[in-house]
Amino acid sequence: MNPSERFPISLGDAMYSLRAIRRVKLDPIPDADLRDILDAARQAPNGGNAQPWHFLVIQDEQLRWQFGELYREAWWAKRADQGIHGPGDIDPANKTTMSAMKLSDEIAAAPAIILVCAIAQGAGAMGSVIPSVQNMLLAARALGIGGTITTLHAVVDERVKELFGIPEEAQIVYAVPLGYPQGNFGPVQRKPLAEIASVDRWGNSIG
Ligand SMILES: Cc1cc2nc3c(=O)[nH]c(=O)nc-3n(C[C@H](O)[C@H](O)[C@H](O)COP(=O)(O)O)c2cc1C
Repeated sequence: MNPSERFPISLGDAMYSLRAIRRVKLDPIPDADLRDILDAARQAPNGGNAQPWHFLVIQDEQLRWQFGELYREAWWAKRADQGIHGPGDIDPANKTTMSAMKLSDEIAAAPAIILVCAIAQGAGAMGSVIPSVQNMLLAARALGIGGTITTLHAVVDERVKELFGIPEEAQIVYAVPLGYPQGNFGPVQRKPLAEIASVDRWGNSIG
């Protein structure tokens, strides 16, 4: 694969338009694209080059729906941990949470869901798989495919592992639904640099 031919948009354009895409079309993602997205993921930096990752792509429709049930349960379990017990507790003005709630009902409709796993327990292995997900999303973006990072909850972990034959010693770090966006890629809203970066001493604003 020639990466610059395969991923033809500039890195800058990819980074600056990589917003979370939660609503996707039903169109399947070609196998070659999925392969190349995963190939980009495995280029990522990782501790000691141990590459303690495993990417499990869920494509089978029945499995996606089975996973979707567990994902919804996990999403609401995370909300319950924050004292949110139903849609009535969610501020409709909170667009991110509203959109994430919708995803909790619809994740199974994404043509592919990638379970990003660390092959060992512990923060070290988990930290090593995180950069791979950014590569994955940037590569997908370059192919016109959107997605978002999502997490599960301990309450469903064992059942998800059983459903997909994930070994006990592995941990599921993220679930990343992928598909062709129903909306558009676009700029993200982030805090200004002056608020989040310093020079030489914390608080010496970078200006
Ligand atoms: C560690 C992490 C966990 C996330 N978990 C979820 C999630 O469970 N569900 C979801 O819909 N989005 C999730 N997101 C996506 C964020 O909500 C999203 O990146 C953030 O709101 C910024 O959105 P934007 O990139 O569209 O500007 C997660 C992102 C990260 C980095």
